[in-house]
Amino acid sequence: MPTHSNFHGQVAVITGAASGIGSGLARKAHALGMRLVLADVSAESLQALAQEVNALAVVTDVSNAESVEQLAIRAYAEYGQVDFLFNNAGVMAAGNSWEIDPQRWRRVIDINLFGVLHGIRSFVPRMLAAGKPARIVNTSSVGGFLASPLMAPYSAAKFAVVALTESLRAEMEFIGAPISVSLLAPGPVKTGIFRDPCGPEAGDATRGFVTQLVQMTEQYGISPEELAERAFAGIADNRFWLIPQPEALDDALRARTEGILSRSTPLLPWAI
Ligand SMILES: NC(=O)c1ccc[n+]([C@@H]2O[C@H](COP(=O)([O-])OP(=O)(O)OC[C@H]3O[C@@H](n4cnc5c(N)ncnc54)[C@H](O)[C@@H]3O)[C@@H](O)[C@H]2O)c1
Repeated sequence: MPTHSNFHGQVAVITGAASGIGSGLARKAHALGMRLVLADVSAESLQALAQEVNALAVVTDVSNAESVEQLAIRAYAEYGQVDFLFNNAGVMAAGNSWEIDPQRWRRVIDINLFGVLHGIRSFVPRMLAAGKPARIVNTSSVGGFLASPLMAPYSAAKFAVVALTESLRAEMEFIGAPISVSLLAPGPVKTGIFRDPCGPEAGDATRGFVTQLVQMTEQYGISPEELAERAFAGIADNRFWLIPQPEALDDALRARTEGILSRSTPLLPWAI
């Protein structure tokens, strides 16, 4: 398996790399001497970061299977190998589940869930054909274990990413493939994810909720660089569960699990 000592020279593909957590992962990977392929829909900031970390930039829409397939073709054409795939791109939508427009619902599912699936579909067959150790890191969230009101599309997609990632890991074990799988579940990280989460239907309660989330992230969030530091430490330890901020998950997940087992009605996440 790839370990901390041999990140150097390994090739990593990172989606959603142009800002936030993706850019933190890219800078850390560059500092470790990895060769990088950076993918994002945001062409300008992607290009700027690619220059900074000497990477190949491939403008990619992860919600589009053909676009992700082109990313894989470009990555293998450039380097002949891919050792790490970080399926990281993601977006937020805030609002009551019954009020968010189905198009916005679908966009979150298309990017946050199908984006991960498209990465798996384009890269896993090539990694299997290479027959060498490689790793897929899928970004979910603590929100992939703890459902939140007013962000149901995000919660639904992130829960699904946890399930997809556990299934993929088991499949790799079943077939005896040398491909490791990790699930990255950040807590609050200071990024631009809450930039524009509200649709035109959003009322005061939704907007107030988003303001609280932003303030909470400013107060308790870590930087993308720190997140990347902790994520790579977990990868170096060959971990499946990359939970860089256990304080944002463990007590609430324990209470949720005990609540399910005792058939109690779920508490609001902030009541735990
Ligand atoms: N910031 C947090 O607190 C937090 C917490 C848990 C999980 N996450 C997850 O981390 C990941 C990165 O989010 P972030 O916080 O860095 O947000 P961000 O908005 O700073 O970065 C997301 C990046 O994804 C890109 N992107 C959006 N749609 C895309 C598409 N269709 N194809 C390719 N790229 C696309 C954006 O252009 C942006 O550069 C997401 O999956 C998010 O859900 C973030």
